[in-house]
Amino acid sequence: MARPSAATCRGTIIALLVLAGTSSAQLSTDFYSYSCPGVFDAVKPVVQSAIAMEQRMGASIVRLFFHDCFVQGCDASLLLDDTPSFQGEKMATPNNGSVRGFEVIDAIKSAVERVCPSVVSCADILAIAARDSVVILGGPSWDVKVGRRDSRTASFNGANNNIPPPTSGLANLTSLFAAQGLSQTDMVALSGSHTIGQARCTNFRAHVYNDTNIDGAFASTRQSGCPSTSGSGDNNLAPLDLQTPTVFENDYYKNLVSKKGLLHSDQELFNGGATDAQVQSYVSSQSTFFADFVAGMIKMGDIMPLTGSNGEIRNNCRRIN
Ligand code: HEM
Ligand SMILES: *[C@@H]1O[C@H](CO)[C@@H](O)[C@H](O)[C@H]1NC(C)=O
Ligand SMILES: *[C@@H]1O[C@H](CO)[C@@H](O)[C@H](O)[C@H]1NC(C)=O
Ligand SMILES: *[C@@H]1O[C@H](CO)[C@@H](O)[C@H](O)[C@H]1NC(C)=O
Repeated sequence: MARPSAATCRGTIIALLVLAGTSSAQLSTDFYSYSCPGVFDAVKPVVQSAIAMEQRMGASIVRLFFHDCFVQGCDASLLLDDTPSFQGEKMATPNNGSVRGFEVIDAIKSAVERVCPSVVSCADILAIAARDSVVILGGPSWDVKVGRRDSRTASFNGANNNIPPPTSGLANLTSLFAAQGLSQTDMVALSGSHTIGQARCTNFRAHVYNDTNIDGAFASTRQSGCPSTSGSGDNNLAPLDLQTPTVFENDYYKNLVSKKGLLHSDQELFNGGATDAQVQSYVSSQSTFFADFVAGMIKMGDIMPLTGSNGEIRNNCRRIN
C-alpha cells in the first residue's frame, strides 16, 4: 500500500488546521445571497405578526437563541422534540416549562420553505428571528451572519450544565460565559436582554424573600405575586424589567442601580463587584449598551456553528431528517 508522502501529510494537516480555525469565519451575512436572497424578508413579517399577537414573544425568541447557542453551539439542537428514543434539551431544567416560542419558529420555517425549500437552516432562523425581535421591540439592529447548519444531536446534560441558573453568583456567571468564549463584558451586555420578558416565581422567590441587596418596596411587590412556599404559585410571572418589559432599552441597568433586579443573578451584576462600572456606563449611555449588546450577540452567534457538510438543513425544525 502506498504511503502518503510527508508533503501530503503536511498539506493535509495544514488544511485541517485552517478549516478548524475558520469554522466560524464561514458564517457571513451574504451566505444566502444566491441560494435564498429572500430569506430575511420571509422571516421578518412572521416575527412581526407573532409579536403583534403577543408582545412577550419577542423576548421568548431572543431567549431561544441564547439557550440554543450555549449547548453544543448555535445548531438548533434546542428545537428538537423528545421522542421515545431521543432525549432532547426541552425538558432540561433551564428549559422545562420555561422556554417558549417553538410554534413561531415553525411558522417562520414554513414561510422560508415556501420561498426556498431545503436551503435555510433552523439555526440561522433563530439568529435572524432574534435580531428581528430586538429591532421590533425598539433595540439596535445588526447584520446577521448566516451559514449555520442544523445538528443531528442534542444535549440534555449540556443544557443543564452550560446555561447559568438564576441562583448564580458573579464568578459563576463569568465562568459559564467564558466556557463559551464570551467575556465578562459580553455577559453583562447580553444580560441586558432582561430588559424584556418575564420570569416565573420559582426563579425569583429566594431573591425577593431572602436576599438583602434588594429595594424593600420592590421586594414586597414581588412577594405579593409569589407565595413564599416552594410549590405554590411557582409559575406566576413577573416582568424582568418592572417598567417596560416589551421595550428594548437600558432600563434593566437602571433597575440594577436602584436594587430592583428581579433575579438573584441580575442583581449580582451590580453588587459592589467588578461589573458595577459597566452597569453604570450603560445607565449613562444607552448607545454604549446597544453597541456592546450587538457585539455580544454577534459573538454568541459564532459559537461552534456546524458548517460545510457538517450537520444538515432540517426539513422540520423539530426533528432530524
Ligand atoms: C447571565 C445569565 C443569565 C441567567 C442566569 C438567566 C436566567 C433567566 C431566567 C431564570 C429567566 C426566566 C425564566 C422563567 O422563569 O421561566 C430568564 C428569562 C429571559 N432571559 Fe435570561 N438569563 C441569563 C442570560 C440571558 C441572555 C444572555 C439572554 C439573551 C441574549 C437572555 C434572555 C432572556 C429573555 C429574553 C428572557 C425572557 C423570556 C420570556 O419572557 O419568555 N438571558 N433568564
Ligand atoms: C418537566 O416539567 C414537568 C411539569 O412541571 C414535570 O412533570 C417533569 O417531571 C419535568 N421533567 C423533567 C425532566 O424534569
Ligand atoms: C460556581 O459554583 C459551584 C457550585 O455550584 C462552585 O463549586 C464553583 O466554585 C463556583 N465558582 C466558579 C468560579 O465557577
Ligand atoms: C429563606 O431562607 C431560610 C433560611 O435559610 C429558608 O428556610 C427559607 O426556605 C428561604 N426562603 C425562600 C423563599 O427561599
